Amino acid sequence: MSLFEETKIPAIHQNDPKVNQATWLTWSKEFLSLNKALRQQQLINGKVTSVKIRAYKAGNYSVNLKNFDKDLLNQLKLYAAELCRFNPNQELIFFTGLINRKISGNLLQFIFATLKEIIVAKHKDKFAALYIPLVSGKKISELPLHSDLFVTDILLNIFEKVKIDGSGHSTFLPLNFFLVQILPQLESMPLSISEKITEILTVVTKKDRYDELVNLLYNEKHPWNEELLTLMETHQQRILFTKGEGYLINDRNWLHGRAATNGGILKKRLHRLAYCSRD
Ligand SMILES: [Fe+2]
Repeated sequence: MSLFEETKIPAIHQNDPKVNQATWLTWSKEFLSLNKALRQQQLINGKVTSVKIRAYKAGNYSVNLKNFDKDLLNQLKLYAAELCRFNPNQELIFFTGLINRKISGNLLQFIFATLKEIIVAKHKDKFAALYIPLVSGKKISELPLHSDLFVTDILLNIFEKVKIDGSGHSTFLPLNFFLVQILPQLESMPLSISEKITEILTVVTKKDRYDELVNLLYNEKHPWNEELLTLMETHQQRILFTKGEGYLINDRNWLHGRAATNGGILKKRLHRLAYCSRD
C-alpha cells in the first residue's frame, strides 16, 4: 500500500542539469482510485480550516475525523503509516501530477490535512505532523537556503498557484556539503559563529531556532554576508516547479530555499505537510 509510485522525469525538466538525479514520484494508481470517495468525504467535511498553533505563531490546517466513513479512514490510516515510514534521508524526491483531473488543489489540501490529522491522532502528539498555511505577500520575495527546523523532520512541499513568469525557483543544497565544504571556507566568519550555526543545524531541540539561524546566516550587517551568499548560489541546485509538482526532503539533511519571485506570493502557492519520520 503506497501513496506514491515512481514516474518519468517530466519533459520540461529533462534538461535541468543539476536536478536530473532526483527520483520523481506521482500518486499511485491504487490511491488515485480513492478519488471519488475522497471527494464525497470532502463534501461532508466542508472547507478545511486553519487552527492557530502558538509555538510557531502560525496556523495549521485541520479536518474533523469524527464524521469520516470508517472504511475510507482505515485505508487512509494505512497510507499515513506508510508515509511516516518514508524517510528520504540524503535523497531528493520530486513529484509531478499531484494536482490533476482527479485530484484538485482543494482535494489535495483535504488529503494533506486528513493525513496530518491521522498522524497526530496516532502518535497522540500535536507536533507529529503539521500543515502550515503559507503567508502570502505582495512584494518580490526570496528565501535564501535554510532548514525549517520544525520538530518534524520531513518536509513535503507541493505547488499549486505558481506564477508562470519563470521566477521563484526552488533551491537545494545538501546540508553535509554546506557544513563541510562551505562553512569552513568562509574567511570572514569567526569560528565561534560557524560552530554555532553547525550546532543549530545538527542538534535536535524542541526550541524554535529558525530566526536565530536565518539571522546568523543572512543578516546583511554580518561581514560574511556576501561571501556566504556567493558560495551558496554557486553550489545550490535549482528547479522551477509548476502546478502539482514539488518535493520531499529530510529537513535535517537538506537546506532548501526559494529564488526571488517577480511579484508577490499567493496564499495557495504551496501546500506544505511536515511530519516526523518513524515506524
Ligand atoms: Fe522552508
